[in-house]
Amino acid sequence: MKILTTVAQAQAQLHAKRRVLVPTMGALHRAHAELIRVAREHAGRNGEVAVSIFVNPLQFEPGSDFERYPRPESADEEFCRNAGVDLLFRPSVAEMYADNRSVFVDESSLANTLEGRSRPGHFRGVCTVVAKLFNILSPDAALFGEKDFQQLAIVRRMLRDLNFKIGIVAVPTVREEDGLAYSSRNQYLSVQERKQAPVLYKALCAAANAGKKSAADVVAIAREIIREAPLAAIDYVEVVDAENLQPVERVGLNSVLLLAVFFGKTRLIDNIRLG
Ligand code: PAJ
Repeated sequence: MKILTTVAQAQAQLHAKRRVLVPTMGALHRAHAELIRVAREHAGRNGEVAVSIFVNPLQFEPGSDFERYPRPESADEEFCRNAGVDLLFRPSVAEMYADNRSVFVDESSLANTLEGRSRPGHFRGVCTVVAKLFNILSPDAALFGEKDFQQLAIVRRMLRDLNFKIGIVAVPTVREEDGLAYSSRNQYLSVQERKQAPVLYKALCAAANAGKKSAADVVAIAREIIREAPLAAIDYVEVVDAENLQPVERVGLNSVLLLAVFFGKTRLIDNIRLG
């Protein structure tokens, strides 16, 4: 496995082979392993699987968990080796951002709802870093998880509107046995919070399976189940259209139910397709 830490090194690497990129912020877990596995399928035996690990300061709102975000460097490196990664790109913040940086990538429609409303500037940070990683590593395809549903929709929109010639592969949400979606932030949960966190997937499933056509009814079912967990504090529960992320009143084939819920200081997100 080749490890690159500078932009110059990465851009000097001409690659004739098909390259498939998995962008991450590290603290790698089973879901990242699944993305890497699917990346290998898409790269083929002769292609190259690249992983980037960069805790991107630009996508953390002021006062959020940038400083305490886990950074288990050597474990992550080992993880990538074991997963058969060919190229690991692991730049420093100084390597990625000039102090007087003044160009950003702003998605101005899909980013205004859901996560964007609760985390102002978050998707500007995501789009900017993803665009930079695409320019630095020139992948043919890149993988993103459906767990971060809005991120996936926004990255797709950025590719379309800025004509990046990169294929996007969406990977279904990977869950622990009790239904909790894997997340690097799950390790912040206390024992009691971790016990209650599966209520999110339980709520999503119950709401999706109730057969309700009114979005308000779907949301009410999910909220009622989440209330069973005393440590859960709902940020939002919404039914939106999967393409434009606008709220819908009637559930259709293209509807998705998304939620964000705090357990203590830890904010978890999850979603499920409806219809
Ligand atoms: P990170 O949270 O490390 O996630 C990296 C990729 O793994 C994302 O595409 C995310 O959607 C996917 N992922 C995480 N948990 C998942 C799960 N349980 N099931 C399926 N996929 C999962 O998302 C980011 O990093 C950053 O915003 C990034 C895109 C790297 C830009 O900085």
